[in-house]
Amino acid sequence: MTRLRLGILISGRGSNMQRLLDASSEPDFPAKPVIVLSNRIDAEGLETAKAHGVEGMAVPHANFETREAFEHAVDTALQAHGVEIIALAGFMRVLTPWFVRRWQSRMINIHPSLLPKYPGLKTHARAIEAGDAEAGCSVHWVTEGVDEGGVIEQARVPVKAGDTPETLADRVLLAEHELYPRALAKACRIISERPAR
Ligand code: GRF
Repeated sequence: MTRLRLGILISGRGSNMQRLLDASSEPDFPAKPVIVLSNRIDAEGLETAKAHGVEGMAVPHANFETREAFEHAVDTALQAHGVEIIALAGFMRVLTPWFVRRWQSRMINIHPSLLPKYPGLKTHARAIEAGDAEAGCSVHWVTEGVDEGGVIEQARVPVKAGDTPETLADRVLLAEHELYPRALAKACRIISERPAR
């Protein structure tokens, strides 16, 4: 079985990243993490990656004059590690069309809403305000429009009476942790089954 070389991009806590690393410790998981990159030097997830034996690297965006210069540095690190698929896991930078095109159909993201509902921020508050009975999370291909790419898999949770954005976010996060490894595995299979260009 082909195991695609996986690069994970984070900005903070990294709980989804941790789930991907846990899943990847199974020998038959179709992705093998080779690098975790953070745009913040103090991201908790960098330590977690190291504890899992995966290289954690900070590329602080604040050190670069332009978004493009930052992304070139990220891209160079990914190429140096032979990355074949990128999973964004709480990565809080909007990517330029240059980077998105470079990794087109090889980059996925997890978003805490049932896309196409609620792209962007404050998804849980928006679901509660709208009176939705259900919320959830989506793993999707990354395209130039933020949170607009094709959905790979979703998971649903109920919105309960009395929910606050925080209680709903906790419930959705548990669903994210279950969803992301499954959706990453599916994305790897899709990539591996594509005819070679
Ligand atoms: C998750 O809710 C994810 O959907 C969103 O940012 C949060 C990151 O959490 N994009 P973590 O860093 O994976 O713990």
